[in-house]
Formats: sequence, structure tokens, C-alpha cells
Amino acid sequence: MGILNKHAILERNVSLLAIFAFLVVTIGGLVQIVPLFYLENTIEDVEGMRPYTPLELAGRDVYIREGCYVCHSQMIRPMRDEVERYGHYSLAAESQYDHPFQWGSKRTGPDLARVGGRYSDEWHIDHLRDPQSVVPESVMPKYGFLEAKLIEGEYISDLMKTHRLVGVPYTDEMIENGQADFLAQGDPDADYDGLLERYGEESVNVRNFDGQPGISEADALIAYLQMLGTLVDFSTFTPDASR
Ligand code: HEC
Repeated sequence: MGILNKHAILERNVSLLAIFAFLVVTIGGLVQIVPLFYLENTIEDVEGMRPYTPLELAGRDVYIREGCYVCHSQMIRPMRDEVERYGHYSLAAESQYDHPFQWGSKRTGPDLARVGGRYSDEWHIDHLRDPQSVVPESVMPKYGFLEAKLIEGEYISDLMKTHRLVGVPYTDEMIENGQADFLAQGDPDADYDGLLERYGEESVNVRNFDGQPGISEADALIAYLQMLGTLVDFSTFTPDASR
């Protein structure tokens, strides 16, 4: 009974209890956190991942500004019902350039981690204008006003620089050409060779997403939605089981 009696000292002294509780939590925390410092990289490198193009990055900002994350998560969990509905479970690498990440667990609407390419641009425009016109029972608000707001990307290089500060590997060349690449992605008549060269020929959609002249916030948002979850080729991807 000796050691159990000693426990009574802790139970009757709040300060002592707090100190010991703190010690226990600290040890538990260190056991979990310290090993991460010794792994070379806790995120598996996955082929195909690239930073967002300037237009996609602008679209991502619209997504965050409009609070789309309040109703939509971007993380497919490795459970059968989710994988069957949304596709391959999300990889850590797929959000490695997301600052802040958009994972979430609140799903008033479906998960959007792999919505890229699932619908046409026209569908997205109709859906943003009036979600109930395509999904009658939808509770999603209307975002038609995004089409009317034209943007030119004059600050996009600053935004890219900020993302570089937190670790996104934008090169000087990408940043210098930020605005040109921004404008080129939304205009199939423009010279977009540089854009494809910098970000990858296969993974960049160059289109007039909203079908109207000029680049609107809807163009940016749809460019972003249409690339979500499309970068990794899951027909050739094999997870590295050692991690
Ligand atoms: C109030 C909650 C709510 C907000 C905010 C919201 N959505 Fe939705 N969203 C829904 C619901 C519910 C659905 C499912 C019905 C439908 O397709 O409209 C949906 C569906 C979608 C779909 C189709 C997904 C699929 O796989 O069928 C896309 C794309 C989408 N939303 C994008 C957006 C974007 C972009 C924003 C921000 C501009 C946004 N949503 C904001 C509730 C919301």
C-alpha cells in the first residue's frame, strides 16, 4: 500500500498535481514529436505534385475568401465508403503546398479533394450561378457575382513570394512571370508555352473557364477546382509502405 498512499499527497495538493500532470503530458508529447525531427522527410515525395499556377493560386484565395471550406472538406479518408465515392484517399503530399490546408471534417457539401475534371467548366458556371438549377435540393449559396469581378493578377507575384517564404518551391522565374502566366492560363489565344514549361504540360488546363472575355474570379476559382486531386497519377502510384 506504500506507493498508493504517496499518491494521496498529489491528490490533496493542487499545485503539486498540476506540476506532475504537466510532467506526464510533456513526456508523452516528446515521445510523439521527437521522432519526427529525425525522419529526413515526413512527407513522401510523390511524382506529379507541383505548386499551384498563379491563376489556380488566385482561385484558391477566392475559395478561402468565400468560405467554401465551411461546407466542403478536401481530404478523402482511407475508408471504403469514402474511397468508393470520391476516389483514392488523399495523400499528405497532395496538400504539401497548401497554406493553410483545407482538410476539414465538416461536410455540408461533398468532399472536393478530387473534384477536378469531374464536371465540365460549363457545369461549374451553371452551378456557381445557381446551384439549385443543377442540383434541386442543394443548399449551396449562389456565387454568380464572381463572374462579374474581373481580375488582372497584379499582386499575384507578391502572393507567390509569400508562399515561397513558407516553403512552396516557386522559382525566381515563376515569380517574375507570375502575372503573365496568370493571364495566359485563362486565354487559349495567348502565348502560354512558358506557363506549360514552368508548371508541366500535362497538368495545367489552359482554357477560358467562364466562357467570357477577360479573367474573372470565376475563371480563377474554376481553374483551381478543375485541378484539385488531378496531379498524382494513381494508375502508376504505389505508396511507400516503409513510412
Ligand atoms: C452552405 C454550404 C455551402 C457552401 C458555403 C458552399 N457549398 Fe458547394 N456544395 C454544397 C452542397 C450542399 C453541395 C451538394 C449539392 C450541389 O451540388 O449543389 C455542394 C456542391 C458543390 C460542388 C459539386 C461537388 C460534387 O462532387 O458534386 C462543388 C464543385 C462546390 N460545391 C463548390 C463550392 C465552392 C467553390 C464554394 C465556394 C465558392 C462552395 N461550394 C460553397 C454546400 C456549400
